[in-house]
Amino acid sequence: MGVTKASEKCREIIESVAEYFVGSKLVITKTLAASLVNGHVLFEDYPGLGKTLLAKTFANVIGAEFRRIQFTPDLLPSDIIGTKVWRSREGVFEFVKGPVFTNILLADEINRAPPKTQAALLEVMEERQVTIEGETYRLKKPFFVLATQNPIEYEGTYPLPEAQLDRFILRLSTGYPRNIDEECEIMRRRLKWGKDDPTQDIKPVISLDDFLWIQHKVEEDIFVDEEVIRYIASIVRSIRGDPRVDAGPSPRGSLALLKLSKAYALIEGRDFVIPDDIKVFVLDALAHRIVLKPESLFEGVDPREIILSIVSRVEVPKGREKL
Ligand SMILES: Nc1ncnc2c1ncn2[C@@H]1O[C@H](COP(=O)(O)OP(=O)(O)O)[C@@H](O)[C@H]1O
Ligand SMILES: [Mg+2]
Repeated sequence: MGVTKASEKCREIIESVAEYFVGSKLVITKTLAASLVNGHVLFEDYPGLGKTLLAKTFANVIGAEFRRIQFTPDLLPSDIIGTKVWRSREGVFEFVKGPVFTNILLADEINRAPPKTQAALLEVMEERQVTIEGETYRLKKPFFVLATQNPIEYEGTYPLPEAQLDRFILRLSTGYPRNIDEECEIMRRRLKWGKDDPTQDIKPVISLDDFLWIQHKVEEDIFVDEEVIRYIASIVRSIRGDPRVDAGPSPRGSLALLKLSKAYALIEGRDFVIPDDIKVFVLDALAHRIVLKPESLFEGVDPREIILSIVSRVEVPKGREKL
């Protein structure tokens, strides 16, 4: 019991999001897996590929509070975390909480804000609290960020520093429609909705309490065998040792794979992790954590190819399904 029921709820979430977002259900599933472990997701792709739609739909389907911040060049750190305001009648400064005090934060077009503002967000993403003049304010639970950005080669953007990309558990792309049917389906839905943004009409399919309950199941009830731990470690260490790589994934990358694979196992209705769960996430959880050597960068080496070649070589633990 328990895991099966949680898995059914997860299916409902995925199906509901798929009623709006046209494309790979795996992208929705991965977003859900990240959210179940309070992991922040960065959607990176060209404009108009449904990034904002996916993030907004996902946030609406979960019965949690969410806020959206449109990042712009003049956005200030205080527009995110909040600010102290002088209350003259009481003669005190009061902290007015910013939009980061919510369950799900949509940070739209995150790379349009200058580094100082990005840094303010990335810092709270990691710390899950805000400290202002020595006073600490904790963020809500759950809390995770769904951020979008256009590819960095776009003009007028401030690329996220590599060190801070590491704070996203996954970097996903929504991608172009995969075939003519998907292309048409996007237009059909627009006709059905009768408006560009249908997301305000979405009803949650899961309450905040049930969502927290599933998060708890992922944490407590999914078994990870020692062999699986070694499998993750071998992959990460091989990437780090690759001659084309300057800096490979940190242990934060291994932990990302560990947590995501547990969430994925639960979504699949299993109470234990198998090596295939790791494979689902290797590219999206690790590619953005790899810094290439300058010469490899120059030669146009793709970190994803490095990961794939390593995963095809690392020995997969077999046999023992469950202890
Ligand atoms: N995969 C998709 N599924 C459904 N609608 C889509 C998809 N891709 C684009 N659209 C539609 O195209 C428009 C642009 O999408 P949007 O989410 O704003 O793109 P982005 O944030 O990636 O620039 C929206 O009206 C959206 O509904
Ligand atoms: Mg957008």
